Amino acid sequence: MAELNSVKTKNIFFWLIWLLITFSTIYLLYDFIIKNTGFMPSQPIQFSHKVHSEDFGIKCLYCHSSAENSSYSEIPTTYSCMVCHIALKNSSALIKPLNESFDSEKPIIWNRVYRIPDYTKFNHQVHINSLIDCSTCHGEVEKMEKVYQFRPLTMSWCIDCHRSPKKYAILPREISGIFTADIKFDSLDFAKKNYYSIISPAYGMWLSDFYEGEYLKNVVYPRVFSRANENCSVCHY
Ligand code: HEC
Ligand code: HEC
Ligand code: HEC
Ligand code: HEC
Ligand code: HEC
Repeated sequence: MAELNSVKTKNIFFWLIWLLITFSTIYLLYDFIIKNTGFMPSQPIQFSHKVHSEDFGIKCLYCHSSAENSSYSEIPTTYSCMVCHIALKNSSALIKPLNESFDSEKPIIWNRVYRIPDYTKFNHQVHINSLIDCSTCHGEVEKMEKVYQFRPLTMSWCIDCHRSPKKYAILPREISGIFTADIKFDSLDFAKKNYYSIISPAYGMWLSDFYEGEYLKNVVYPRVFSRANENCSVCHY
């Protein structure tokens, strides 16, 4: 009898472990193939966002300045790096590829981390002007030694936020360098309470509509979240 019992418990353990392995495999495959989160391609230079943004406080827009005023967020050129590295750590082995690119005038070919399919369009400016911080979609990049994909980028994720932006959106943070005028982003309707001009953020130009009436004249500020469009043609050609 005792023998029989131990066989039964062994069986239960076997099935439990079997279930655990199956489900975790399915989950990991789902995570990796469908959502693609954690994707982290190798890069030609060991560039660390942690060193540049967390340790030395360089704002995101200093390097990715077009995110604020175009659909696209560019990767900085070799010249932008050389502003500092022509003198700073220039003889370091890690800077060697940068020097080579500078001397040969050949750009560094970085490998893309974030990409949506060609039949889809995305627009950085619209999101930034709606007070959505980079970290909402890219995570706290300033804490990353190497950038990895933080969000799934699936259509359901985009639409889910378009239906209820407040569920996901993180308000602008200082390190991002967007709307860096003297504004405290502690409440969603800050625009109604604070009449600061934010025409001159620290880096880059910022474009938006002029609001009148309820707000002060000639003070520019971003659109607060509104229900974003769900029409297919907003994101598809
Ligand atoms: C505003 C100035 C500034 C700019 C622009 C800048 N960096 Fe840096 N970088 C730094 C600082 C500061 C450090 C840390 C130096 C230290 O550890 O003493 C650093 C460190 C590095 C290191 C590590 C060097 C080592 O030997 O530890 C690499 C690699 C690097 N940067 C690459 C880049 C690349 C590529 C770009 C352009 C995309 C760039 N940096 C743009 C300021 C800058
Ligand atoms: C000193 C310049 C510099 C600063 C400051 C900087 N970045 Fe970057 N960023 C780069 C470079 C160079 C790359 C390409 C290499 C890589 O992917 O690591 C990059 C890549 C990225 C990517 C991945 C792009 C892709 O391939 O899809 C994201 C997202 C990103 N940065 C966001 C940020 C955010 C958010 C901040 C502010 C916390 C920031 N960056 C600050 C230079 C910078
Ligand atoms: C609403 C979500 C969202 C926000 C907010 C956002 N991004 Fe992005 N970002 C994306 C998506 C989606 C892509 C891929 C776009 C594509 O494939 O066309 C991307 C791509 C990028 C890239 C890579 C571009 C390339 O061509 O290699 C960089 C760099 C980047 N973002 C930086 C930033 C920075 C810096 C901020 C804040 C100022 C920011 N992003 C805010 C969603 C976002
Ligand atoms: C954090 C929430 C959030 C996420 C995530 C998000 N969006 Fe948006 N999106 C918005 C908001 C808010 C607006 C601006 C709506 C407005 O001002 O009326 C917007 C606007 C847009 C617009 C411009 C619409 C227009 O009227 O011109 C496009 C295109 C767009 N989003 C595409 C995408 C795509 C593609 C993704 C996924 C890769 C995505 N968005 C993810 C919140 C989000
Ligand atoms: C907010 C942006 C957004 C809107 C609005 C949107 N899509 Fe998409 N769609 C995406 C993104 C991003 C992808 C690519 C990622 C993915 O496959 O999930 C995509 C992928 C697709 C695909 C390919 C799916 C696949 O598995 O290959 C189809 C089909 C599609 N969308 C149809 C539609 C239709 C029909 C509508 C209108 C009812 C619509 N989309 C509205 C963002 C959007």
